[in-house]
Amino acid sequence: MAAVIISGKDLSAQIREELKGRVARLKEKGVTPGLGVVLVGEDPASVSYVTAKAKGSEEIGMFEQTINLPASTAEAEILATVDRLNRDPKFNGILVQLPLPKGVSADKVIAFISPEKDVDGFHPINVGRLLRGEPCPLPCTPYGVVEMLTRAGHSPEGKHVVVCGRSNIVGKPLAALLIQKKKGANATVTVCHTGTKDLRSFTLQADILVAAMGAPKAITADMVREGCVVIDVGVNRVPDPAAAKGFRLVGDCDFEAIKEKAAAITPVPGGVGPMTVTMLLKNTVEAAERLAGISG
Ligand SMILES: NC(=O)c1ccc[n+]([C@@H]2O[C@H](COP(=O)([O-])OP(=O)(O)OC[C@H]3O[C@@H](n4cnc5c(N)ncnc54)[C@H](OP(=O)(O)O)[C@@H]3O)[C@@H](O)[C@H]2O)c1
Repeated sequence: MAAVIISGKDLSAQIREELKGRVARLKEKGVTPGLGVVLVGEDPASVSYVTAKAKGSEEIGMFEQTINLPASTAEAEILATVDRLNRDPKFNGILVQLPLPKGVSADKVIAFISPEKDVDGFHPINVGRLLRGEPCPLPCTPYGVVEMLTRAGHSPEGKHVVVCGRSNIVGKPLAALLIQKKKGANATVTVCHTGTKDLRSFTLQADILVAAMGAPKAITADMVREGCVVIDVGVNRVPDPAAAKGFRLVGDCDFEAIKEKAAAITPVPGGVGPMTVTMLLKNTVEAAERLAGISG
């Protein structure tokens, strides 16, 4: 039987409706949640991500300001911009769009963001809080993956989740989130990477398989067991002369073949991507609620 397609677009729309209500409640108390975005340079993918974040903020009634800096901006000036946003009470959330130009330390810039305004959840203090199971802004892509699973009726609780990829922004924080002894988590987690011998022997054991590798069609149908739930985080540009831009976006999974075997699968585009943006909005609204002493 063909898999159910888990639409990140539809789930995002549902969550954004909920957020609209929460923003309206905050506004009644005189608080407008604010997101400050720092964009350095004009990398086309970064510009499109930042545009989606600005549009999403507007859609739910939040205040958003993007600070565009030229690619030649010195690290000290980027740090000064972050410092200004840290101090400005208009901003509940700060996001520095990655990657940053060569010569600028992303680690240093991220560590400079106030942990309470770190809506990407990348600050080392928040990474520690996540691992320890303490309240913190959850990294947006892992948060989006867990929300998707839960809302689509595939709670990871008690399941074997195999995560392919161990980056600091997806694989590692997702594993940290899923192993917590908490509702919506409490999974058994295996993390695979390029050092894994015989990847297929692990992916075949997955109740839930998450691909976050950045490698088109790295997960093929023979690597997925019947009835598995497959979350494709990958976003890869592949040349396509028929497409207006000369490329199209594909995930890390062989979608067409896997959908004949899996119980459910996320598409690319329209899967994890929209959820990531929506979780950023959610983190910003939650930061504003914390400050206003309101619980969501
Ligand atoms: N949809 C979204 O919102 C969203 C958000 C973030 C990222 N992404 C996409 O997700 C993908 C992953 O992003 P990332 O930032 O995590 O990438 P990354 O930093 O390049 O990490 C990729 C990870 O996958 C592992 N890997 C790569 N090829 C592999 C293979 N053939 N077998 C086993 N492991 C393999 C790497 O292993 P090693 O550690 O051993 O090198 C690494 O841990 C990218 O396509 C990215 O564009 C999407």
